[in-house]
Amino acid sequence: MNPTRSLSSEELRSAAIDVLKINDLGTMTSAAPNLYPHMWSWDAAFVAIGLARTNVPRAVTELRSLLGAQWSTGMIPHIVFSDNDTGYFPGFDRWGTADAAALPAGIRSSGICQPPVHAIALRHIVDRGRENGGADQEAAEEFLAESFDGWLAWHRWLATVRDPDGVGLVEIHHGWESGFDNSPRWDGPYSRIAPGAVPAYTRRDVLHVADASERPDDAEYTKYLWLVQQMAEVKFDDAAVQDVVDFRVRDVFFSAIMAASSEVLAGLAMELGREQDALELQGMAARFRAGVASTVDPETGLARDYDVLAKEWIGTETVSGFAPLVAGGDPALLAAQRDLLRGPRWMGFPELRFPLPPSTSPTSDAFRPRTYWRGPVWPFLNLLLGWASARDGATGLFAELRSASLQQLSDLQFGEYYEPFTGEPLGSLAQAWTAAAALEWMGTAREDASGK
Ligand code: SER
Repeated sequence: MNPTRSLSSEELRSAAIDVLKINDLGTMTSAAPNLYPHMWSWDAAFVAIGLARTNVPRAVTELRSLLGAQWSTGMIPHIVFSDNDTGYFPGFDRWGTADAAALPAGIRSSGICQPPVHAIALRHIVDRGRENGGADQEAAEEFLAESFDGWLAWHRWLATVRDPDGVGLVEIHHGWESGFDNSPRWDGPYSRIAPGAVPAYTRRDVLHVADASERPDDAEYTKYLWLVQQMAEVKFDDAAVQDVVDFRVRDVFFSAIMAASSEVLAGLAMELGREQDALELQGMAARFRAGVASTVDPETGLARDYDVLAKEWIGTETVSGFAPLVAGGDPALLAAQRDLLRGPRWMGFPELRFPLPPSTSPTSDAFRPRTYWRGPVWPFLNLLLGWASARDGATGLFAELRSASLQQLSDLQFGEYYEPFTGEPLGSLAQAWTAAAALEWMGTAREDASGK
């Protein structure tokens, strides 16, 4: 069965546009209508990629709003709180960031970050603007010139504060920073955390899903809040956080995005005539690419994270193991990784509803098909893998990911994540970045058809 046959691409397109409209709060897009009524940093980048296919100025607004929340250190916070008072937990007050010296005046944000996909989104906006010409081109190019220093400061902050030893891997201080909140990747580091007293709280995320087992469990959640508390106690001061926080991990997938994005930002710097900055960014790209490649386990062929506090590698079989495919680099390594990705432990696992990589391999003991980052398929991630495949000329893998993604998304539910064997949408429906992924996949299909 091929569901895309019975569904016109116009239907999918207009349903995806509707989802972005439902989530549109004016100058920012909520990640999802109820579960996530605020702006999330990496969601915003993917949302901007989707918006650039339909409304370039609105895509610009999205990134401009996010950048408006940039801390004076250069960090871009992972949540920018909207005025929505819908009871998302933990909200601005619980974060305790009001006392952070680096929080800009008038901004309500969290105090941690997420992977820097933003320069990739900016590249998409500039490209779509130029394709359209006229006012779209002007808006995109103006924004590029106006915002470049902000993105550069963001990359510099990551390259220094989060990789002080220059190993080419970004250190994170909370599983939320990875975006892969409860992935088995973090089971080891979290198992060693004994949280102190955490004031009573009521979770809201479990109220928005049919089944609480789709979410992290309460013991995990208490540790998430404990880490926030540790950082709040030192007012989110970068140097102090590193000394007090119980979670210090070099995140290989975050680092891969840093490598890819730095390369893209270097290209944009060249277009602006900023050659020195371009060289600096190319240096970051090379350093993080090498850092990512250095983590590959020769036994499994997968990239690994590194637990700084326990001084050990984290070798779980999760999709983050394909970090080199995002970072780019050595063609032999990338070819081996593509074979692995298409193989029976991943996209080729026979029972999959669609041949798309689950967040944890179904062959792993840690695999849970319905639980958030422990198994479900995440559509935005497939878009990222597709983008990187196209960049590296892996047209076959790109086409496979696109075709399977468009079939998956033709249910018009735009789930946050999907059950790998049944294709059931899970988490929040009408998830903004899932709709954005659909729009971008369709846009690339159109380009192919027109011979671009
Ligand atoms: N993803 C986490 C949440 O559920 C934190 O950003 O809120």
